[in-house]
Amino acid sequence: MALIAQASIQAVLDACDMLEVVAPYTTLKKSGANYMGRCPFHGEKTPSFSVDPAQKLYYCFGCGEGGNVFTFMEKKEGLEFADAVRTLADKYGVSLQYEESSPEQERRRETRDRLLALLDQAAAYYSRYLQESNSAAGARKYLAGRGFHEPVINEYRLGFSPASGASLIKAATAKGYENSELMAAGLILERDGRSRDRFRGRLMFPFTDHRGRVLGFGARVLDDSKPKYLNSPDSDLYHKTNLVFGLGNARASITKEDRVFIVEGYTDVLALHQAGIANAVASMGTALTEHQLREISRFTRNIFLAFDADTAGQAAMLRALEIARRLNLSVRVIQLPQGRDPADLALAVNGAASFSDLADHAPSLLEYQVQSTLAASGLESSQGRVRAFSALKQVLSEASSSIERDEQLRIIADRLRLSPENVAYLMESAPLNDKEQDGGTRQRVLSHEEIAERSFLSMCLANPGEARRYLQLMNDAHFTTETSRSAFNWIKERLVSGKDESGIDAARVPMDSKAREILPELVIRSRTEESAPQALPEYYFRLCEAELSRRISEIKSKFGDSMDEDTGDKGIGDAGLKELYRLETRRREILQVIQSGSWGSA
Ligand code: GTP
Ligand code: MN
Repeated sequence: MALIAQASIQAVLDACDMLEVVAPYTTLKKSGANYMGRCPFHGEKTPSFSVDPAQKLYYCFGCGEGGNVFTFMEKKEGLEFADAVRTLADKYGVSLQYEESSPEQERRRETRDRLLALLDQAAAYYSRYLQESNSAAGARKYLAGRGFHEPVINEYRLGFSPASGASLIKAATAKGYENSELMAAGLILERDGRSRDRFRGRLMFPFTDHRGRVLGFGARVLDDSKPKYLNSPDSDLYHKTNLVFGLGNARASITKEDRVFIVEGYTDVLALHQAGIANAVASMGTALTEHQLREISRFTRNIFLAFDADTAGQAAMLRALEIARRLNLSVRVIQLPQGRDPADLALAVNGAASFSDLADHAPSLLEYQVQSTLAASGLESSQGRVRAFSALKQVLSEASSSIERDEQLRIIADRLRLSPENVAYLMESAPLNDKEQDGGTRQRVLSHEEIAERSFLSMCLANPGEARRYLQLMNDAHFTTETSRSAFNWIKERLVSGKDESGIDAARVPMDSKAREILPELVIRSRTEESAPQALPEYYFRLCEAELSRRISEIKSKFGDSMDEDTGDKGIGDAGLKELYRLETRRREILQVIQSGSWGSA
């Protein structure tokens, strides 16, 4: 399928009316240059959703959701980018042109299409073998024994791989596929110059993408032998850390219900689906990755984690929570009875009802963290209570609303036997001791840095004339995340080269650019937030100071490392020390400038 030409995308953008597109989802009122309404992405009573009809952007000051008219359609209608463009093109009567592709691109697409077709046919082959072969009787019995019925087996295209050495190879070769293609698709193994099927005598779970295309397989043994699952190797098509199991099957239901259940096992997904809960997906046995959560968040922001109650499951959950918070997703935690997984629950009598009940009572991320911190701290001793207290300060400082925070404070006061006023007082007066914290700290500090980076960039958009001189002096190192770095480069290129006299047109950011994630926020903030004239230089110096601090601690940490070695080479050497001194001096100067507010002198 050819790509829609960039000019056509622009034409659709020019033709569409952002206010009209948003109108079915919320009521907007004019407010300055923009329009405000209640956010269609999260429940709220007072409007914090802002739309810029000229640039066709939106941004919610409450939940942080932002994008242009296309991402709005993608998110609200659960569409692919190209389909969002097509839908709007139809609505506004724009006829689309497609891009001519080069022979090289053409060739690559062909290779890819053949691999996809091969994987699809392999899935069909295993599925037919499961349904029809005498040799698959054991597999059919196994599935029946676990309570899986035909509809769900068909929905997920389960199959069985023949136990003999090269059945799939024979079938695929007869259809004209080369050995090299079978290899690239991860379907065969080569040993001593001979090929054989990678999957033999296993129950086959096709891994599909969100459009239902088969990219690989997970293959389960029927008995207790190890490994329980054998997965396709990573390939050009399939990356274990990117794939979300069952997303294609769950997608429509996720959009409709506006929530998703994330479980650990493929069989959990199947069991829930069979019980009538179709909005469930699984991570791939590994910890949930940022990439997977981003993929899921295209369809909903309401995440329910239902991981096993064992330690590994709980650790995976905490990591997932951290990522989800960074992506600004709402997360709730379904607490499963010890030793039971979602499949056990779903397949029991009244399974769907009891699972839904657990979901309805699932604590929020914050509640869950408060509970598990309290549970882990040993509250009998006063030492334990102090420990709990300092861990909770960190947890509570991340509360998303003051209502939620106050409620948690009441629980804590009760458990720690303090009056709520006392707790509130202590929470406010006790400064956060960063050294005491582990893991979580770095992210919190980083996110402070990124907040400053974003504010700075949005001020640059508000004052392009003045911003030029600061942007010129800055580079990638002043920004801590790929997203803010990418936005910085985009803005710098526009403003410093003066290429784009019309200012920043966020809709023109390249599709694959990370900057796309935050430009709507920056543009809308630049037009709505008032800032004092000295704020821009102040932020500039703060970012410089933060950058120097990072360099200094990097050098110091190297210094620390080399001290431990037995090489006799102590420390970083003269050059290192000089550099350290230079950086420290520079940093002190900058801090002085910030404190005195005498901009322009440094
Ligand atoms: P059942 O035991 O049949 O219910 O399967 P399950 O999918 O529920 O398995 P389990 O709860 O043991 O593991 C959860 C997930 O971890 C699986 O769905 C796999 O993604 C992954 N996993 C478990 N065991 C293995 C293994 O041996 N190899 C690989 N690659 N992944 C595994
Ligand atoms: Mn399981």
